Amino acid sequence: MTEDSSCSNSSKSETPLEAELLNACFKGDNDRIKSLLRQDATIWCTDETGRTPLHFAAASGSVSTVRAVLEAGIPWNSLDVGGYTAGDYAEQGDHSDVYNELVDAGVRAEMVLSLVNSGKRAVPNEDYLSNPIEYSGDRLIDAQRNGVMMEWEEPLMREHAKLICPEPGRAVLNVGFGMGIIDEALQELKPRRHVIVEAHPDVHKHMLSQGWDKKPGVTIVFGRWQDKLDEICRLGPFDGIFFDTFGEFYQDLAEFHRAILSTPSKSPSPAGGEPILARPGGVYSFFNGLGGDHKLFHDVYCRIVTLELGRLGLDVDYTPIVTDSVINPELWKGIKRPYWMLKQYNLPICTWRT
Ligand SMILES: C[S@@+](CC[C@H](N)C(=O)[O-])C[C@H]1O[C@@H](n2cnc3c(N)ncnc32)[C@H](O)[C@@H]1O
Repeated sequence: MTEDSSCSNSSKSETPLEAELLNACFKGDNDRIKSLLRQDATIWCTDETGRTPLHFAAASGSVSTVRAVLEAGIPWNSLDVGGYTAGDYAEQGDHSDVYNELVDAGVRAEMVLSLVNSGKRAVPNEDYLSNPIEYSGDRLIDAQRNGVMMEWEEPLMREHAKLICPEPGRAVLNVGFGMGIIDEALQELKPRRHVIVEAHPDVHKHMLSQGWDKKPGVTIVFGRWQDKLDEICRLGPFDGIFFDTFGEFYQDLAEFHRAILSTPSKSPSPAGGEPILARPGGVYSFFNGLGGDHKLFHDVYCRIVTLELGRLGLDVDYTPIVTDSVINPELWKGIKRPYWMLKQYNLPICTWRT
């Protein structure tokens, strides 16, 4: 957040009308905002630190001002120069009702956007899948030095593993091998069947070099999960499913949910005809890195995923796990973009609604 995170002063860089508008937003003065907009003040203004009318409105603590500014066209996910959202300003002022209003606005906007963007899309991570990757100490990186997987996630992966395989003898599916951290943890929990789907040729080679094809109960499905749905279905049903790919978007996760959770398993009876996630008793989870660099974005996506899984008949709970120590520049040295910058990880627990 900028030094002057209280938003108490607008800067000198905007026109007098715009400066007044930002001030009116900060004061939560809706009548003045309307009158300034009628006088041709533009809602698309910022102060010198990039704060939009939405940042100022959020700092004011007035829900109605936030609504007015959103209705005037400022996007819910605007960032200032320091990379702070309006949600950060709301939280700094302890304005939880404003924060919730921003989350609601984000959910509405993103749901509309996903409808607009639905339909056939190109392979999202084609470049990643066709370029070499490198296992380098505590990390797996791609050709652009993006962190595909990093060791700091181990405690999270262990929790995900315990969740989807709480006792020996379970049938589990993991999509995305990466560094194999969750698969190691799953092996320790002795599943009866352990299916791993992996699309990157170098990761696949690495898996074979480490003997994963010979580990107890393990079946490797090499290819993109999108292209291997039939095979995955035939290997089901599963008591536990975990999803953690790389270079894909929220739409891909949503597509996975629709494909995996609403398709019947193709295994022979008695399981045939049942969903791929065993019903009842099956547990699904995924790496919840959604919007992991901004709390507001993350909260919006947690709500959206809960709504969408709800439509498929699942309840979603989140177990909070403290991730303070990850907000450390040293940890991310050499990585192009830190993908997790939040103090709390929300581990999803998704189960069939009874
Ligand atoms: C973040 S890593 C998984 C890390 C893993 N959870 C662990 O514990 O080490 C993501 C993995 O998903 C793989 N992947 C990416 N897109 C995929 C797809 N469409 N289908 C299957 N695997 C995919 C990547 O190659 C990568 O190995």
